[in-house]
Amino acid sequence: MKRILVTGSYGQIGTELVGALRKKYGGDNVIASGRKKPPKILTEDGPYLHLDILDVNQIHSMLVDNDINIIIHNASVLSGVGEKNPQLAFSTNVEGAYNILEATRILELDQVMIPSSIAAFGPSTPRNNTPNDVIMRPTSAYGVTKVFIELWGEYYTKRYGVDFRSLRYPGIISSEALPGGGTTDYAVEIFYEALKNKRYTSFLNKGTYLPMMYMDDCIKCTIDLMEADASKLKHRSFNITAMSFAPEEIAAEIKKHIPEFEVDYAPDFRQAIAESWPASLDDSAAREEWGWEPEYDLAAMTKDMLDKLSKKLGISY
Ligand code: SER
Repeated sequence: MKRILVTGSYGQIGTELVGALRKKYGGDNVIASGRKKPPKILTEDGPYLHLDILDVNQIHSMLVDNDINIIIHNASVLSGVGEKNPQLAFSTNVEGAYNILEATRILELDQVMIPSSIAAFGPSTPRNNTPNDVIMRPTSAYGVTKVFIELWGEYYTKRYGVDFRSLRYPGIISSEALPGGGTTDYAVEIFYEALKNKRYTSFLNKGTYLPMMYMDDCIKCTIDLMEADASKLKHRSFNITAMSFAPEEIAAEIKKHIPEFEVDYAPDFRQAIAESWPASLDDSAAREEWGWEPEYDLAAMTKDMLDKLSKKLGISY
């Protein structure tokens, strides 16, 4: 039986992942955790417990007391926040992940998943159709922490047999919880502003292509990799993608549904971060090793986002 701990559960991905895991594995078998008071959605169908990932004793007692055998460690500082506060990125992303990997090793848990990101690549990485195995020299604080996570996790797999798995998430677009300060956040904000104000000022410039994915696909690949047969995995860290677009392309897609919608561009410090990341990814390793296949393209994602958000905000379009 799977007993899963999710850290960072009230984040953009955690909020929806916890619900999906509870549906599949039973509400009480999925412990949501974090440092904040949780939203109602996390306490309705299962337990939410306070957890500080920098507190090693608390991590260990939580894992033992709740008989956890799988950790999905989603607590992380994102790229924008990390650039403003690199020391916070280090303690949350590096020390936090180290504590979780150590606990997995010491307590001999079955599996640990820790997200990586497109941010693990850098300006010297080929930008288009970036391969899974390629030079990784990120220039953002956040990206550096993600490379640490991948390499330390893979080292633990090789050295101690820890079952570490990691997905290099692209920008994730979703309607439930907002992303917490990343560079791809514009692709979520744009929907709220399109519905509320019919205009949006993008903090990334026209022509800035980034790999992206809708939340339904994000949940699917996370659970699929968790379930994947370990003997088929040649890699432990995987590129995954569903689409790649620039701000003017998502704006044009929204305009098909909201013709009055207007966008202008005022790039800020996140433009430089975006330009150091891949524009598109080659995710053939994920496809070959565990059957990854996305469902949503730009058109399908845009339609579903507008439907869900218009219901949530009570604004028709
Ligand atoms: N969405 C993340 C960010 O922008 C990328 O991993 O920081």
